[in-house]
Amino acid sequence: MSAANMKQRRDHIELIAPFGAAGSVTLPGSKSISNRVLLLAALAEGKTEIAHLLASDDTRYMLDALKTLGVEIDEQTSLCTVTGTAGSFATRQADLFLGNAGTAIRPLTAVLAVASGNYHLSGVARMHERPIGDLVEALCAVGATIRYAEKEGYPPLQIGPGEIDLSSPVHVRGDVSSQFLTALLLALPLTQQDAVIRVDGELVSRPYVEITLNLMARFGVNVARDGWREFRLAKGSRYRSPGRIRVEGDASGASYFLAAGALGGGPVRVNGVGRDSIQGDVRFSDALVELGAQIDIGEEWIEAQAPEHGQLKAFDLDLNHIPDAAMTLAVVALFCNGTSKLRNIANWRVKETDRLAAMASELRKLGALVKEGEDFLEIKPPDAISGGASIDTYDDHRIAMCFSLAALSGVSVRINDPDCVAKTYPDYFEHFARLIEAPVIAIDGPSGSGKGTVAKRVAEVLGFHYLDSGALYRLVALHAQRTKVAVDDTSSVATLARDLPVEFRDSEIYLDGERVTDAIRAESVSEAASRAAQIPEVREALMKRQRHFRRAPGLVAEGRDMASVVFPEAALKVYLTASAEARADRRYKQLIEKGLDANLATLLRDIRQRDARDSGRSVAPLQKSADAQVLETTDLSIDEGVDQVIRWFSKA
Ligand code: DC
Repeated sequence: MSAANMKQRRDHIELIAPFGAAGSVTLPGSKSISNRVLLLAALAEGKTEIAHLLASDDTRYMLDALKTLGVEIDEQTSLCTVTGTAGSFATRQADLFLGNAGTAIRPLTAVLAVASGNYHLSGVARMHERPIGDLVEALCAVGATIRYAEKEGYPPLQIGPGEIDLSSPVHVRGDVSSQFLTALLLALPLTQQDAVIRVDGELVSRPYVEITLNLMARFGVNVARDGWREFRLAKGSRYRSPGRIRVEGDASGASYFLAAGALGGGPVRVNGVGRDSIQGDVRFSDALVELGAQIDIGEEWIEAQAPEHGQLKAFDLDLNHIPDAAMTLAVVALFCNGTSKLRNIANWRVKETDRLAAMASELRKLGALVKEGEDFLEIKPPDAISGGASIDTYDDHRIAMCFSLAALSGVSVRINDPDCVAKTYPDYFEHFARLIEAPVIAIDGPSGSGKGTVAKRVAEVLGFHYLDSGALYRLVALHAQRTKVAVDDTSSVATLARDLPVEFRDSEIYLDGERVTDAIRAESVSEAASRAAQIPEVREALMKRQRHFRRAPGLVAEGRDMASVVFPEAALKVYLTASAEARADRRYKQLIEKGLDANLATLLRDIRQRDARDSGRSVAPLQKSADAQVLETTDLSIDEGVDQVIRWFSKA
């Protein structure tokens, strides 16, 4: 059961075939920064006010442990105030349970090993499988007293008072977890001795060590270093509160939303991290750029969109510097145009679960061909991601979060034990849902009923996207005319519809780069569009394109099968009607306004004929769908019609 979030843990959730993702998310505080800042504030002289602290399982464990150690902490919703102990905890004997929080147990082990008390540190079963021997050995070699309470090399640990002597360098391995080095760096200033730390082996996940150094400096302790091999702390170093500190948004959490923007159209903006972030995982956006996504970065935000043209590119990348965000890329690989390789990720194996093995198994459930190496994954995406997969999450928040992205291929995905995200991001699925849940208002009606004008205005008022589906049929017709394809050559017209080089930009329509907003309204195009619209293959080809218009915050889709075929799940369906006389009259006024000749009687006859043809045709006839609201507009102004639709929508 999650500590931060005591509500009932759900067995699973279904992510039902979203059509895209767009919108913005304000990120919770970073876990890595939150737990370091809490510990530093507790060890410092003076009070620290911490703003935007993450509220999650892992931070809960750290907070509770510090309180047990006698640290005074005042937790308010927006601010957490820690009264520093100037390096010595009041409680000399304690039993600390740290769940599965690596960012709590590692630094606390080092800090308590130099604190001359008796402490027992334990966690959940998985924590007892995560190695800590390299850290314990490094500490014992300089005089700490630490005993393995169960299995050699793993928590739980029993720490006793030691005699720390730093006259010779402390050696620590760097190739398993950078948190061992982080733990030593955070703890050694408390010894009030000159200290030298030497890293044996290649240091992994360096950006996390940079976070540590950066935050230590904020608390007044500067570390001299020689590359990534040797770190030196001077005797007089002591932590002093900076007074107030604000925790940045979580850059690892940002990776899911940025990926959602790149995979689901976007734009998706994350607020809380940006250009000046101290977190290594902001580099995830560089990886997305390499894949072809469009990225924009501000001081405190990042925004992602799908590539301007085509698919994301397959990749082969060394991801040692962003081990957490790299998991997101493993799911992104399912959407790329070839086989991708994630390299140098061996330390995935010692995280919340063996992430290399777990990711490989779950990716296979989605149809990918996966090769799992000792320190790499090679992922060949399937032709189409398998729908209906049931993803196991191994009590690993990141697995739950990154696999939510698979649904953006337009399939349904089940995520088991989704509330394991409480470890670092309790509201993740609520935030994700907001990006993908774009309600649709489907509007239809006979020609001249005012549906186009009403639909466009409703979209404007609500700030929704707008789809004039008739324009797509008109574009197919115009494209056929221009490329000299006869409308009765059904298979060629269907091919044109599939590859239509169209772009909708700033209320204008471009075909093959040329503005055609007016050209598609020509009488000859209307005639050909009506014929093209009766070809089932054309309708099929346009369907996917139409569904792509569904983006957050919502869509107003206008046209005859919007409610019945393309968006049957539309939140609101409206069918506009008006008497044939009223419609003829509207058309008459439009033509006269344009300075064109018009005859009311002829227009009325044409409208009646068109009605008969439209409702009688065999393919997608004009029909009111059974669950549509009827809006009779004969005696309504446009504004009244728009108001009525919005009233219905607000109740839908
Ligand atoms: O609404 P409009 O006149 O611009 O539509 C052009 C043609 O496309 C018309 O013959 C109706 C047809 N159409 C269709 O079959 N299905 C749609 N969803 C929209 C329009």
